[in-house]
Amino acid sequence: MTNADFEKLVDTSDEWIISRTGIKERRIADADMFGSDMASNACRNAMEMAGCSPEDIDVLIVGTVTPDYRLPSEACVVQEKLGLVNAVAFDIAAACTGFINGLTIARPMIETDPTKKCLVVGCEKLSSITNYKDRGTCVLFGDAAGAAVLAADTNGGGIISTFMKSDGRLGELLWQEIGGTKNPYTPENVYNGRDKLIMSGSEVFKVAVREMSIASEKVLKDAGLTGDDISLVIPHQANIRIIDALAKRLKVDKSRVFINIEKYGNTSSASVPLALDEANRQGKIKPGDYVLLVAFGGGLIWGAALVKW
Ligand code: ACO
Repeated sequence: MTNADFEKLVDTSDEWIISRTGIKERRIADADMFGSDMASNACRNAMEMAGCSPEDIDVLIVGTVTPDYRLPSEACVVQEKLGLVNAVAFDIAAACTGFINGLTIARPMIETDPTKKCLVVGCEKLSSITNYKDRGTCVLFGDAAGAAVLAADTNGGGIISTFMKSDGRLGELLWQEIGGTKNPYTPENVYNGRDKLIMSGSEVFKVAVREMSIASEKVLKDAGLTGDDISLVIPHQANIRIIDALAKRLKVDKSRVFINIEKYGNTSSASVPLALDEANRQGKIKPGDYVLLVAFGGGLIWGAALVKW
């Protein structure tokens, strides 16, 4: 969907959306394409790139807040679709930070047993929880999936340091109030759009800039590095102004920050792996480079991971 498509739906303009968010287009999945389908496609591409087969995968971790079902987990659905017969599969509901939480959990599993291979995925069908009558949120979100195979690196690369944090007191700044056991679906709630994503955008914005900066500085400090050592920052793609503010705080030139928000919008847990994959396939990451991944999302929850490629 382009910004022009949204001009027909709500009171907005291409100029407002680009200047306030940096978004020009987002991808919307067909009605019969679900998060598990997108995740499975991403996983197949990742396994092909890593040169491994479904039988080689020991752990599948899926970050999502838009699973196909409430039970079984999205990870078990994806496991079945891919034939990961030797794996344990489980979900992480950490909104936009899901992929970074997945990396953080997979890292000690591989450190403990270097023969292990972990598949970490972020997938979201955010269009299924977007209120297309709310101009403050509907222009932001898109559907996507991204995946990575993690294995022990004998050449000195790996996940060098990680950081995760959340603050449940701020949960109502970005939430889906209806649909759980506390507030089940009723015709009235659905009619009022309370079953969709609700966000206090400007308040989330401030916390996002502050905490993404602190998380980034923490993983750099733990690794004994500074912003100067980073070859590429791959931030969660929520808003170009958040990314600009983060780059400024870290004193990292924009040329070393990967941005693809204009094509996809905010794809929550898929955002970081999608950007990582594009950056990698475009040859922007070389062996030995330090790459900083950082994300922030509903919970509120945030985290960062410093990777040596
Ligand atoms: N078109 C035109 N005007 C709009 C639109 C729109 N699409 N949306 C809001 N406005 C208006 C508002 O109504 C308001 O008008 P008013 O002043 O007359 O009341 C004005 O623009 C300013 O609204 P703000 O909400 O203050 O706008 P802001 O500059 O903060 O931008 C945005 C809004 C883009 C949502 C921004 O706050 C943001 O990106 N927030 C962070 C989002 C984020 O990082 N979320 C976390 C991850 S998402 C996840 O976890 C799934």
